Amino acid sequence: MPAITLTTLQGLKQKGEKITMLTCYDATFANACNEAGVEVLLVGDSLGMVLQGHDSTLPVSTAEMAYHVACVKRGNSDALILADLPFMAYATTEQAMTNSALLMQAGAHMVKVEGALWLADSIRLLAERGIPVCAHMGLTPQSVNMLGGYKVQGRSENQARQMRADAISLEQAGAAMLLLECVPSELAEEITHAVKIPVIGIGAGHATDGQVLVLHDILGLSITGRVPKFVKNFMTGQPSIQAALSAYVAEVKAATFPGIEHGFSA
Ligand code: KIV
Repeated sequence: MPAITLTTLQGLKQKGEKITMLTCYDATFANACNEAGVEVLLVGDSLGMVLQGHDSTLPVSTAEMAYHVACVKRGNSDALILADLPFMAYATTEQAMTNSALLMQAGAHMVKVEGALWLADSIRLLAERGIPVCAHMGLTPQSVNMLGGYKVQGRSENQARQMRADAISLEQAGAAMLLLECVPSELAEEITHAVKIPVIGIGAGHATDGQVLVLHDILGLSITGRVPKFVKNFMTGQPSIQAALSAYVAEVKAATFPGIEHGFSA
């Protein structure tokens, strides 16, 4: 077991202490993130874009995810490892169980799935079988073709009402964590207060229980040159990558990151 468990994260939410999460895809960075005190390492399917050079996360396979989870596991001692189930790896409840098992056996401690209410059955089945699940809501990059691009979600009153209701339903189904991507800051704050499980934000304002960013983004590395509004380059003014990782942890813990300028309004 790592030092950080689900119970640790629930305790941090109850105490009002911010949770730190970063994406991580290999052993060296897992070790560096441990040194910096990052509590959750997200082996995200963003690796399809930042490592593999694809223009979306859709081409990533479960086998590739399992490979990177195993790499991260070998460099990790303290953090909880959260792994993405990639595109169409949980289209049915059977696929969700089979593919989650592969990621857990590779070293993950929790899996993440993108979507809303339709995930409830899979989340319930996985939780009943001992697999904690994080539900990723708001901008769900695996659905970029349905969404018509990488756009802020939940801006209309109807969408916001639906997202609040779905978040509560997924908690009731057994979700252990929520991740909100690119939703208005006020909506993220309401959802964070409406559920007991930790809520992690990316482009969701400062009021969520914790923050996540893509590792390469905080190090100022971009293959496209397009930097989303919610990103901060933590290498600025820092002498090393290790110092930048520590600066990220310090700013999230102190709630100085994200600033108002990193969030979205309705
Ligand atoms: O895959 C990923 O890196 C993610 C983050 C953007 C939250 O899901």
